[in-house]
This record gives sequence, structure tokens and C-alpha cells, in this order.
Amino acid sequence: MNGFDFFLPTRLIFGPGRLSEVGEQTKRFGKTAAIVIDRFLAETGLYKRIEQCLLEHGVRSFAFTGVEPNPLCSIVNQTAELFKDKNIDFVIGVGGGSSIDFAKALAVALTHDGDIWHYVNEPGRPVGEITSKTLPVVAVPTTSGTGAEMTAVSVLVNPETHVKRGLYSEKIYPVMAIIDPELMLTIPRNLTATTGIDALSHAIEAYISTDANPFSDMVAIEAMRQISDSLPAAINSGQKIEARSSMAWGSALAGIAISSSCVTLVHALAHPLGGRFNIGHGEAIAMGLIPVMRRTWMLDIPKFGKIAEALGVCTHNMSPKSAAKSSINALTELIEETGLSLRLGNFGVRQTDLDKLAEDATGYMAGCLESHPHVCSVEEVKNIFLEMF
Ligand SMILES: [Fe+2]
Repeated sequence: MNGFDFFLPTRLIFGPGRLSEVGEQTKRFGKTAAIVIDRFLAETGLYKRIEQCLLEHGVRSFAFTGVEPNPLCSIVNQTAELFKDKNIDFVIGVGGGSSIDFAKALAVALTHDGDIWHYVNEPGRPVGEITSKTLPVVAVPTTSGTGAEMTAVSVLVNPETHVKRGLYSEKIYPVMAIIDPELMLTIPRNLTATTGIDALSHAIEAYISTDANPFSDMVAIEAMRQISDSLPAAINSGQKIEARSSMAWGSALAGIAISSSCVTLVHALAHPLGGRFNIGHGEAIAMGLIPVMRRTWMLDIPKFGKIAEALGVCTHNMSPKSAAKSSINALTELIEETGLSLRLGNFGVRQTDLDKLAEDATGYMAGCLESHPHVCSVEEVKNIFLEMF
């Protein structure tokens, strides 16, 4: 067994109805909160509900309701400028991964000098140091997907270069994650499917990564079980709190797994699609997962056998190779069940764009690429994009 480190400073508050504790639980972080939420969620009354809970415990709040998918570093800078004289003590990110990532970046931007992009871990230039001055972040996920509530990364897009990269620092782990599956009962089918496949991909990638360790393996396998058991029910019977709870738990576990291990090739392909074409993260993952795993299962027969079992395949009478291969059928069936049938061409990507995408994936996403069991060449990556096309 190889040695490994594990660190997770996030207090997890999990369970249906627990958002009602947001005031009681967060008043320890100060008197003034910035709430980052997207406009759609704010209009559902969720912002008002949180604002009221905070007020009841003596915490006033200011809202930023302009979060978009694939958040831009320029918007983080502008928002920090707007909030800098408000004496913000902590930041609450409410929503999917974009809101939580935005909240983490805002917590840094409010306490550190200069452009937030300076703190993004981009190869080939010095990266700004994120210190403990950064404000505490509370994550309130409303989807079961990115696992951002349990990770030390905030993914942003630079609108000038179309590079999509992360700020990485232990200082930006949320200090608290309030995971209330009741908030997920009304997630539309398509969003349930795309975010669920993202969470599943986190678990699989963390498990097969060259950075995997006994802890991340244990967590990733349980995440796969929870997600594969509950994703179809969450899509088809969205009001079932048991299915939503299992998805929320599976997604959080998958977030812990990638924190301790790493995402790999599927995410190396997905980020350039978000950066250049603003394709939603879950959609990009859903397109890449099968083409990547079909090229990978034979590289780690024992692990893919375990993946098959976690996805519900009875492998008792199979040879190790058949068991490993059966994971691809199980994954394909699960994605078919989600109803996701996406191609790059649907998003305005042209075949002539694939060279640039392959350069991005093997260039600035090399870190994820190199964590995959086989490090793909530019040509191999282009072929995978071609299959997604
Ligand atoms: Fe992801």
C-alpha cells in the first residue's frame, strides 16, 4: 500500500430540511455575509429564505445574483469591487458548482490584491499565493454534481484566452457545507442527469487516477454505488427524497474522492469545451466519459472489475477481463437511461476546431491528462474528440 495524505476541513451538515439551520450554523463566521446565487434560484425565493434565516441570527447579507455557468474571472473581479466596502465576513455560495466556485474565488478576491486570474494555477507563469486571509466559504449545493462543496478548487474562465482553469488552495475549502436534499427535489430532469454524470465521472476518475490511494478508493467506490443506484430514480421520480439524498451523498463523496485523488482525462477534455464553447460542464463530461473509458478499461482490469460491481453488475461468474469490460456496458446503459445523447456538433463545435481543443487538453490541462492511466498524445486526444463529434 502506498502512503498518502488526507485533509478535509469542511464541516458537513447533511439531511433533508437542514437549510433551516443556516443562520444558527453560520453566525460563528461573522455579522455580514455575501451570498452568491444565480438569478433563477434567487427568483425561486431561496435567497429571501436564506436572508431571513441569517437575519434571525443577527447576520445581514448582500446578494450577487449574476452567476452564469463557466464563471468568468472578470465578473469575480467586478463583484469584489462592488462588495469591497461592505465589510464582508464570509461568503455563502448557493447553487451548482458555478455558484460555489464563484463564492470561493470571491472570498479570495475580497482579501487579496490584483486580478483573481493571477491566483489561478496556469502553467508557465508565477501563481499568486492564496493566504489564510481568504474569507470563510459556506457551500449550499442545490445540485448533485460538481462536489464543489467538498473541494479546494474553484474553476474559472479567462474570457480573453478562453482558458478554463482552477484556483487550488487548501485555504479555499468551504469551512461548512450544508447539503439539504430537499433543495434538489425540483431540479429539472436534464440538469439532474448532466450533474449526476459529472459526479459519477468524478468517482470513476478519482478511482482510476495515478494519484488514487486507499482512502480515495474507498470513498470513490461508495460514491459510484450511491450514484448508480439512485440516478435513474432521481431523474424519473425527482420528488423522491431518498433518491435525491443518495445523489447528494454520492456527489459529496465523489467530491471528497477527487480532493484526495484527482480527476483525469475526461475532465482534461471537458474544460476546453467549457472554455472555448461555453458547453455546460456536465454535458461535456457526459460526451467524453464513454469514449475515454472504452479506451481505458484494459489498463486496469482489477479496478474496472470493481467499477462494474459498483455499477450493479454481478461479476461472480466472469473472468477478470470480462468483469472489467462489463463496466463499459453498465456505464453505457446508465448514460442511455439518463436520456443524454449529446454530440459536439450540437454545440456549434466544428471539425476544424478539434486541433485547438486537443492542444488545450494536452497543454494547459496536462496535469489531469497525466493522472490518467495512459497519457494520451495530441493525436489520441483528437481522435477522442472526433468520436464525441
Ligand atoms: Fe466535474
